[in-house]
This record gives sequence, structure tokens and C-alpha cells, in this order.
Amino acid sequence: MVEKVCAVILAAGDGTRMKSTHPKVMAEVLFRPLIGWVTDNCLAAGIPVGCAVLGSGAQEVAAVLPESYTYVLQAERLGTGHAASMARDFVREGGFSHVAVLNGDAPLLGSEEITAALQLHLQNKNAATVISAQVQNPTGYGRVLREGTDVQAIVEDRDATRQQRAIDEINSGAYWFEAAFLLEYFENMSASNAQQEFYLTDSIAYAVAAGRRVGAHVADPHAVLGANTRAELAVLNEIARVQVLEKLMENGVNIPFLQNVVVGPQVQVAPDSTLLPGTILCGATTVGSECEIGPNSFVRDTVIGGGCRIIGSYLEGAVLERNIRVGPMSNIRPGCHIKQNVKIGDFVELKNSVVGERTSVAHLTYVGDSDVGSGCNFGCGVVTVNYDGNKKHRTVVGDDVFIGCNTNLVAPVTVGDRVYAAAGTTITDNVPADSLVIGRARQVIKENWVNERGRYKKK
Ligand code: UD1
Ligand code: CA
Repeated sequence: MVEKVCAVILAAGDGTRMKSTHPKVMAEVLFRPLIGWVTDNCLAAGIPVGCAVLGSGAQEVAAVLPESYTYVLQAERLGTGHAASMARDFVREGGFSHVAVLNGDAPLLGSEEITAALQLHLQNKNAATVISAQVQNPTGYGRVLREGTDVQAIVEDRDATRQQRAIDEINSGAYWFEAAFLLEYFENMSASNAQQEFYLTDSIAYAVAAGRRVGAHVADPHAVLGANTRAELAVLNEIARVQVLEKLMENGVNIPFLQNVVVGPQVQVAPDSTLLPGTILCGATTVGSECEIGPNSFVRDTVIGGGCRIIGSYLEGAVLERNIRVGPMSNIRPGCHIKQNVKIGDFVELKNSVVGERTSVAHLTYVGDSDVGSGCNFGCGVVTVNYDGNKKHRTVVGDDVFIGCNTNLVAPVTVGDRVYAAAGTTITDNVPADSLVIGRARQVIKENWVNERGRYKKK
């Protein structure tokens, strides 16, 4: 029988200790919000639908949930059991057989652990299966109480006896529940504990008392780490950073110096590409094979084809085809499509523009809101004048066009194929194909002027 599973993600905490105006689960590890890690892990574990329990700042969190995940609001924070029960209707009406309940602030609990816990849960026909871990410093966490090997209960740090506090097996805050059992627990839970909260953790003792089976999947200690403070976020970042780089190297990516290379969890890099120090790849970025990125490049939400070199540059929201060279010191802003064999040199800014094959924009140039053809050469210091102080306008440049140094293209304007623009021209009107355009003051020479003036040279 194929089980129908869902996730409930507890994420109503405001993360007071982050000292942020944003919800805690929006804090980022490797430039991805914590909640994004959790939903990625759920999807990768084959949990197609879920419900996040949100508190203040809910809209901000809702905006980053996957499409198949919904949310409910928890108006008052009355504990993890209360939080999970906000998803009661979602669980009941979805007709699920089993429910994963996860903390929204534990990004490193990967799909392997979630899947392994489900297998144990199903095999042993458990009503509840907690994901636990043995850690060096269990302070602050709930402890897993066992009799022999059998799990009996979870006791919160605050409610624990001294003896119980010595236990080093902790509750990660992630569980699998049989859906019917979880719904039954919601109807029967109470808040009789140190914090007067409805604890989800009490479901374990409740199941045991009802003669139901419970168990624990012991996970890797790194997998259960959460983040309550900025310092803890930095620890998670470093663990996740190394994990991602190790996986990339296993897959054939060349990272000769691990220091100062940061790659987000959703980034894909093909084998035989090299990442040099100071490189940050994040968001939905993909890099083809035989590329060299860095040193010192930031790339977000950008597709980079094979054989590209990106040196000391900033790229966001762009598509680069094959064999493109960018940098050093260039800025590729959102909405750019750069076709194959293009050269973008130093101090070039591109925005919302298409650049055709083999075109070269080699130095000190701004190309904004433009459609540039193939085989063009932009000289040093070319500027598309796309903004009239009120509106943005487009510049269209045909194929095989030569734009001399220091040319201004005042948009809206169209320059035909094979046009030759003399250096220093300010193009204000459309230029037909195959023409020369010169728009600048004619040079004037006054012979012997310097001698006659006589005072130019200092004595
Ligand atoms: C919880 C567990 C503890 C476990 C730890 C792991 C309980 C009672 N304790 O403790 O055993 O070791 O997590 O990190 O469950 N939340 C809500 N609404 C609430 C309360 C919490 O949405 O009313 C959310 C939080 O945003 C967070 C998660 O639930 O994502 C866990 O809450 P938190 O307050 O961090 O629980 P802990 O006390 O750390
Ligand atoms: Ca916590």
C-alpha cells in the first residue's frame, strides 16, 4: 500500500533572540531561508503536500512556500502541541495516513533522515516516531526517556529531573505520526507542565499509556541543529557550506581551495568546472561544465552555460549561453540574456538586455534596456542613454555593428545592421543599415596658435 503522507511545519516563532523584525524561519542559511530548507527536504523525502503553522509576519513566510504547501495561522503561541493542532483540519480533510511534524528552524534534517524515520515508523507500526540524536551538549533540548531500548516519553529540559538532564539523547523536534493518532492526541492534550504549554512532546507518553507503539530514529547530530541566535546561524552556515562543497567535489566539481567558497543548496554545478575563492553561488543558479568562476564573484539566480569564465563580477537573474567571458569587475543585472561566445570585459554594466553571439563589450560600458545583435563591437565607454529622467526606453542595435569609443545611444533609437558609428558620436536618430554615423563637433585646427599665445608654457 502506498501511504498518503503530509508535512506539518511549526514556524510561528518570532525568534526574539535573532533580534530581527522578520520571522525566525526567514533567517537564511547559505542565502536560503530556513523554511525553504525544510520544505525542500520534505519534497525531496517524497512528501508532496504540507501545511506550515505561521505567526507574525506570516505573509512573508507564505510567499516562499512551495505551491503545493499551504499554511494556517497560530494567533497565540501556546506551545508546540497547540501549534501542530492548528493544522488539524488540514490533516483530517486530506485523508492522510501519516504526518511528519517538523520544526521550521531545523534546516539540516535532510530527506535521508526523514525517509529513514518513516521506514522505521511504518515497519514497527508506530503511532509516533521521534527523530532523536545523541549530542555532546543536550542542555535546552527535550530528552528521550527509554526503558531498556523502548522509548517511553520526552521530557523538556525545564521539566526534567537532574538524572534526566544527564541523558544525551535529545528530541530533534521532528516526528512521524499516524494521522488518526495525532488527531486523537490533539483532543486530549493538556498544559500541565513548567511552561503551561501544550507540548507536542507529551504525545509520546500519551501513546505509551494508550498501549500504542512508539519509537525513535537516531539521526546524525548535525542534522538536528536549529538556530535560535545569529551565532547559531553562523554555525549552521559553516556546516551546510562544507556539506554542499563536499557533495559538489564528489560530483566532479573542482574546488582547489575550500575557504571562502559558498554555494547554496539549490545550485547545480556540472563536473570539471572550477570554483575559486571568493565565489558565492546562490538561489536557483546553474553552472555548466568547464567553467571557471571566481576569484571573487557573486552569482544569484543565473544560468551559466558551459565553458564560461566569470572573473570578479556580480551577476543576478541572467542567462549566459556558452563560452562567455565576464569581468573582471562587471555587473550583470536582472533580465539579461547573453548569447554564446560573447565577451563582457571590465567595468561593464548590463541590465535587461539581450546581447547577440560573438559581440564584444570590452570596457567601461553601460548597456541597459537594449537588444544588441550578433558580431558587434562596442568600443570603450559606450553608453546607452535609456532614461530620459521620466521613462526608460529601448535601444536596438543590429548585427555586425561597430560602435566607436565614447558613443552615446539616446533611446529610443534603432541602429541598423553593419552600421559604423564614429568615436564620440551621440546617436539621437535611427541609423539605416550599412551607414556611417558621425554626430560630434568637427575638429578645428588653428596652426601656430600656441606660439602666438606665448603664455602656455610656464617658465
Ligand atoms: C522543542 C521541543 C524539544 C526539542 C526542541 C528541538 C516541545 C515542547 N519541545 O523545544 O523537545 O528538543 O524543540 O529544537 O515541543 N512553535 C510554534 N508555536 C508555538 C510554539 C512553538 O509554532 O506555540 C514552533 C517554533 O517556531 C519552532 C518549533 O515550534 O519552530 C519549536 O518551538 P521552540 O519554542 O523552539 O521549542 P523548544 O522549546 O526549543
Ligand atoms: Ca528551539
